[in-house]
Amino acid sequence: MSQSVSPLDQAALDRVADQAAAAAQGAADLEELAGLRRQWTGDQSAIAQANKAIKSLPGADKAQAGKNMGVVKRRVFAAFDARREALEEQAAARQLATQTVDVTLPTGRIPRGARHPLELLQDRIADVFTAMGWMIAEGPELEAEWFNFDALNFGPDHPARQMQDTFFVDPPGSGLVMRTHTSPVQARVLLSHGVPCYVAVPGKVFRTDELDATHTPVFHQVEGLAIDKNLTMADLRGTLDRLADAMFGAGVVTRLRPSFFPFTEPSAELDLLCFVCRAKDPACRTCGGSGWIEWGGCGMVDPNVLVACGVDPTQYQGFAFGMGIERTLMFRGGVQDMHDMVEGDVRFSGNFGVEI
Ligand code: DAH
Repeated sequence: MSQSVSPLDQAALDRVADQAAAAAQGAADLEELAGLRRQWTGDQSAIAQANKAIKSLPGADKAQAGKNMGVVKRRVFAAFDARREALEEQAAARQLATQTVDVTLPTGRIPRGARHPLELLQDRIADVFTAMGWMIAEGPELEAEWFNFDALNFGPDHPARQMQDTFFVDPPGSGLVMRTHTSPVQARVLLSHGVPCYVAVPGKVFRTDELDATHTPVFHQVEGLAIDKNLTMADLRGTLDRLADAMFGAGVVTRLRPSFFPFTEPSAELDLLCFVCRAKDPACRTCGGSGWIEWGGCGMVDPNVLVACGVDPTQYQGFAFGMGIERTLMFRGGVQDMHDMVEGDVRFSGNFGVEI
């Protein structure tokens, strides 16, 4: 070790190299190896001392001594390098064997979010009508009173205009409301597109309701309007049955029940046979024992609406309907509480499938 060795003593240098190589070989781990390397090659080592001694040798011996030292140092460094590589390999192998990855562990991944089920349902509904060759249209949510009411044959004193239903927009007399239904788009499409006309209009509507389990001040409807020559209530019924099948599964039973809307004559409510009790349980909580569930309003378009929109009612007639999309999602998806639809919790949306 630190015994001094002459750089010209080949045999002694070989012995030092043998000892150093043996020491490296015996190192149990990388830390011990690093210590031994310092000991055998550091400033105080026999090798370093012999190296230093070269400069005090007679000139003629220097070359030989330098060559000797080169050989010794290469051997010793090679021995330490080889051992380091071997120990590093062992350490890596040990790590691989002990560190297993459990691919079933939950990750901290941030969920990607989901489109809202009401948006998805509006797309599905639009698909049903597109497949029948209908247009899809949209209209403004901030609407002229004239489109929301007058064009649709609401008299000036109709109760739907009163404050309890409608969000009027400042200043008073602005003539603007937040639309209370999607029906004004009927008039917009008739005026811009003309007849014949087959159009479905999904969208947001607004009413001054408090949020509770079954109401929300902002909700969604899909409006339908078909104007052509020779359309009858049978066409209305067939179209709505097609929509009901697409929404609730083939074979769902529907009925039309007489009703009133200013913009249709005759008017009807479309009811669905209660899919919980099928009209067999007078105590059913879903249908209230009536056996039927109200889904939306419909009827044959009132001639006054056609006239207001520049259509000749002696040539053209047709039907219209309006369904609540929240109600549709409640029946389709078993959603019990409107709060779930407006709170925006991704755990609710995720249940309906994550689609982009
Ligand atoms: N607009 C009506 C409402 O919000 C629903 C409706 C009823 C739409 C009959 C129609 C219809 O197109 O013909 O209650």
